Amino acid sequence: MTAAQPEGVQTSPAFTPRVFSGIQPSGGLTLGNYLGAIKRFVDMQADDFETIYCVVDLHAITAKLLEPDALRQQTRELVAGYIASGIDPTKSILFNQSQVVEHTQLAWIFNCVARVGWMKRMTQWKDKAGKNQENASLGLFAYPALMAADILLYHATHVPVGEDQKQHLELTRDIAIKFNHDYGTEFFPITEPVIEGAATRVMSLRDGSKKMSKSDPSDASRINMTDDADTIAQKVRKAKTDPDALPSEAEGLERRPEARNLVNIYAALAEQSVEAVLRDVGGKPFSEFKPMLSDLAVERLSPISGETARLMLHPDEIDAILRGGADRAREIATPILKKTYDIVGMVQG
Ligand code: TRP
Repeated sequence: MTAAQPEGVQTSPAFTPRVFSGIQPSGGLTLGNYLGAIKRFVDMQADDFETIYCVVDLHAITAKLLEPDALRQQTRELVAGYIASGIDPTKSILFNQSQVVEHTQLAWIFNCVARVGWMKRMTQWKDKAGKNQENASLGLFAYPALMAADILLYHATHVPVGEDQKQHLELTRDIAIKFNHDYGTEFFPITEPVIEGAATRVMSLRDGSKKMSKSDPSDASRINMTDDADTIAQKVRKAKTDPDALPSEAEGLERRPEARNLVNIYAALAEQSVEAVLRDVGGKPFSEFKPMLSDLAVERLSPISGETARLMLHPDEIDAILRGGADRAREIATPILKKTYDIVGMVQG
């Protein structure tokens, strides 16, 4: 593996490493998003390969159409949160999907490559369409082909995502393989998923077996990136635990999902291993550990929420960043789309 490879992954030498990920502007970032995805995206920013982060506003309207003002607001909030968390728009290409029309243009080609049978097998389609598939939008059905276009439009080689997106990445590979095979080329790379590890998965504060999520009806189940110090302290104080003291070794967290979750969160925020944390806090009761955790969370999150709030007062600043990101994205995307059209036989004047 050369120095230019993103950690832990290998790629075909024909394609230079390029990281791409898409983020849904579904409103409100949680500590789970921060420790699970954002921090990883920040760490992947490097001098010797590109990182492209795309706010997928076109995907955001597939399940249902949103209030236009809410979509605008959520898009800007997400961008503000990412920048405040350390995504550097001069290092990474940060933009929103709809500003680079090539995404939908390549998606059309992929709509004609992908098979209906492949789409019907997608668990996200089955979950989101629910019982009434006839009434789901055509966009929801085609969602994975647009996602494949997002990735392959940049010849991205590495795609960091959560476990739930694995099937979509396999479909992206199938689309690339079928396109390459049908047209007798090796134009599209076979993308490597970089799946988020269980260790970085942040669970609900009310139920250690459920993922922390902004869609959980209980606000006490999550720490929002915009929560103030008092709210964070209160949520941590009320977090579900068990009556025992903290163990001194990681094995002691087995079958104690709530205890494990709080220790994992502490370790991730402190950028320490779970073992190192337990060496310090082993033997302490939760009544002592919880204030340590909320102090650390406040210390780490308050600069981020402060900067997010500041940016949100200047939406024009955010929009200029997105415009600049879209311009840079287009520089990569335009020739790849042009070449795809050429391979397919579209006459280009
Ligand atoms: N489907 C992804 C999610 O819900 C978002 C997404 C859209 C994406 N396009 C992408 C992720 C391309 C990675 C690469 O999380």
